[in-house]
Amino acid sequence: MAPPDRSGADREVTSERGPVHVVAEVLSAKKLGAFRHLTLVAPGVAERYRPGNFVAVSVGDGPSRGLLARRSFWIHRVRPTGSHGATIELVVEPTGVGSTWLAGLSQGDRVELTGPLGRPFAQPKEPVTCLLVGEGYAAAPLFPLVERLRERFCVVTMLLGAPDEQHLFGALEARRSVTEVKVVTADGSVGTKGTIAQVVGEVVQKVEADVVYATGSRETLHAAALAAEEQGAWSQTALEVAQPCATGLCHGCAVPVVGEDGVGRRVRACADGPVFRGDRVQWAELGVS
Ligand SMILES: Cc1cc2nc3c(=O)[nH]c(=O)nc-3n(C[C@H](O)[C@H](O)[C@H](O)COP(=O)(O)OP(=O)(O)OC[C@H]3O[C@@H](n4cnc5c(N)ncnc54)[C@H](O)[C@@H]3O)c2cc1C
Ligand code: FES
Repeated sequence: MAPPDRSGADREVTSERGPVHVVAEVLSAKKLGAFRHLTLVAPGVAERYRPGNFVAVSVGDGPSRGLLARRSFWIHRVRPTGSHGATIELVVEPTGVGSTWLAGLSQGDRVELTGPLGRPFAQPKEPVTCLLVGEGYAAAPLFPLVERLRERFCVVTMLLGAPDEQHLFGALEARRSVTEVKVVTADGSVGTKGTIAQVVGEVVQKVEADVVYATGSRETLHAAALAAEEQGAWSQTALEVAQPCATGLCHGCAVPVVGEDGVGRRVRACADGPVFRGDRVQWAELGVS
């Protein structure tokens, strides 16, 4: 099978239709298990969006703001038109200073952000069989991808995982939108007890996946990439590497990869990724063995 076509997608994000910097307004903020689901009016971002893009958010306010680098968040959904203007949706897990600040915003609050950023998921030209693997909040960007894949008549299965029910994202929506869904939680509170890394090999084989798309922790991405390789499938892994600038300038987000020429090099997660072919990432050097 030919590799997924990313040429069109690449042109899209590197052309004059590149990212914009906007002051977004919070249209709604809702609790969703362990997460906060934010809808933001962000003109210009939704119109340029492709599945797999993210935004860099200027977190914090007052004197603390200058101390924090911007923080990256996947775009979950976009609505380019609506009564309030173009909106984007984010799913935030409050873990540190920045995400807790963002999760604490209410309707009417404002936040500066830049986006859409990064190279999106490459999409197949042909109607192939796809497995979409999503861990926790990181499953959020997979849902717009499902829509694009279905428009291309792909058969789509999802494998969703989390430590527990509170940290599981999108299981209900997945059941509505794809052929088959498998859920795993480490504590067994929903679905099968276990981790994605433990079951992904079996699922890739069972569905006979041609392409595996994966989001989540490095361990999960690595396991998904290995499972794809064993099955002879392509993989697209969405890496979360800390991004000081998120716009390609600081080179502080290095990812070790092997190029098509077989030579190892460092590329930027934010601008050359964050979606990479799983077989190109040097996982051991990235901190996953
Ligand atoms: C492309 C991309 C998309 C992301 N999308 C989302 C999203 O949709 N929702 C969401 O809640 N988070 C997302 N993250 C993770 C989020 O950007 C980080 O967790 C960020 O550090 C949160 O800032 P903080 O100030 O709250 O936490 P920090 O004080 O920076 O750190 C909090 C905890 O997170 C860990 N951490 C720091 N940076 C990262 C990182 N880049 N990835 C994973 N863990 C990290 C730290 O070790 C610490 O344990 C994304 C990250 C990237 C790179
Ligand atoms: S975060 Fe600065 S180049 Fe990627």
